Amino acid sequence: MKKILITGGAGFIGSHVVRRFVKNYSDYQIYNLDKLTYAGNLENLRDIEDAPNYTFIKGDICDAGFIQQIFVQYQFDGVIHLAAESHVDRSITNPMAFVETNVIGTVTLLNAANHFWKDKTDKRFYHVSTDEVYGSLGEEGFFLETTSYDPKSPYSASKASSDHFVRAYHNTYSLPIVVSNCSNNYGSFHFPEKLIPLVINNIQQNKPLPIYGKGENIRDWLFVEDHARAIDVIFHKGKDGDTYNIGGFNEWTNIDLVKLLCKIMDEKLGRDPGTSEKLITYVKDRAGHDMRYAIDATKLKNELGWEPSLQFEEGLEKTVDWYLANQKWMNDITSGDYQNYYKEHYQA
Ligand code: NAD
Ligand code: DAU
Repeated sequence: MKKILITGGAGFIGSHVVRRFVKNYSDYQIYNLDKLTYAGNLENLRDIEDAPNYTFIKGDICDAGFIQQIFVQYQFDGVIHLAAESHVDRSITNPMAFVETNVIGTVTLLNAANHFWKDKTDKRFYHVSTDEVYGSLGEEGFFLETTSYDPKSPYSASKASSDHFVRAYHNTYSLPIVVSNCSNNYGSFHFPEKLIPLVINNIQQNKPLPIYGKGENIRDWLFVEDHARAIDVIFHKGKDGDTYNIGGFNEWTNIDLVKLLCKIMDEKLGRDPGTSEKLITYVKDRAGHDMRYAIDATKLKNELGWEPSLQFEEGLEKTVDWYLANQKWMNDITSGDYQNYYKEHYQA
């Protein structure tokens, strides 16, 4: 039996990765290590929490003694590392939390894997990273695996640093690693500080839809289950020491994306066309707001045969349906500390 440690499994993407591995690999034991910060939520995993091949461990990746203890106790064969502080806006107000979890936490895990994996055969440390490490694009071009790093926010600087540490451990200690850099994800269980779930929730509540700046910034959106499938493929078939870009070839300006969401929501809620668009409100821009991200995922397609499975409109409609059917999930989050975050961030 393979013993796989997945970190950050109670978060948005991590919960989809945990679910996929628990369901598809009954011969693996899946250990989900999560600190349950504001972004971690065990409700995201209710459907698989009793599976015999699933174990939840509450803990902090920065706690070296604890990490060593679980490496000894469970004898992991592989690590899929997703735990992170993930929101760019929060990194602007509190960068240290990003240094701690994203940099120190990652190095703490690397140290444990490197120390306890005496025989490195059949071991793998997979670091799940972001396209934001490459910086910001102009109107033309795509991020390739060979694009130089040029992170511009405290969040992306912390993820770039952790990527460098992962590759340094491969080069220096021959730790078996693989890294992927993915574009913006969307789908179920997405924390409503992020654009898509925030807009869906605000439309339902008839609240303003905050668009930073002119809404012309571009993001490349990928359905979260396609990301989880890419992680599965790369974990099992990726070349040791290699990097893979993951993306949907699906660029949208923020304003066009929000208008599309308004149209879908008007249809679903039986509102007159144009009703939700009236909620669009232009607000102060994000400091240092990256203009455009666009991933070239050709390497992943050519070498490992992965491609996105869903058209964006189909994925977005599926996503909206999920939020409408799971209002308790959203209400539980938005009735808690989230209210303070929202007030401070949007009504300051
Ligand atoms: P998220 O914020 O939804 O979840 C992060 C999870 O990590 C939470 O469950 C949280 O409790 C846990 N966590 C945070 N600090 C921890 C600590 N010190 N110890 C243990 N657990 C801790 O994030 P997400 O959007 O699911 O992103 C997951 C990973 O994927 C991140 O590494 C992120 O950089 C990367 N990524 C995200 C996207 C995206 O669009 N969301 C795209 C590309 C890459
Ligand atoms: O590209 C991958 C990255 O995508 C991940 O590494 C990050 O973890 C993830 O959070 C995401 O970062 P973004 O900053 O692109 O996502 P966010 O949903 O915060 O914002 C998407 C775009 O929408 C961005 O241009 C900022 C804008 N925006 C966001 C919010 C929250 C608004 O206009 N208004 C808002 O209220």
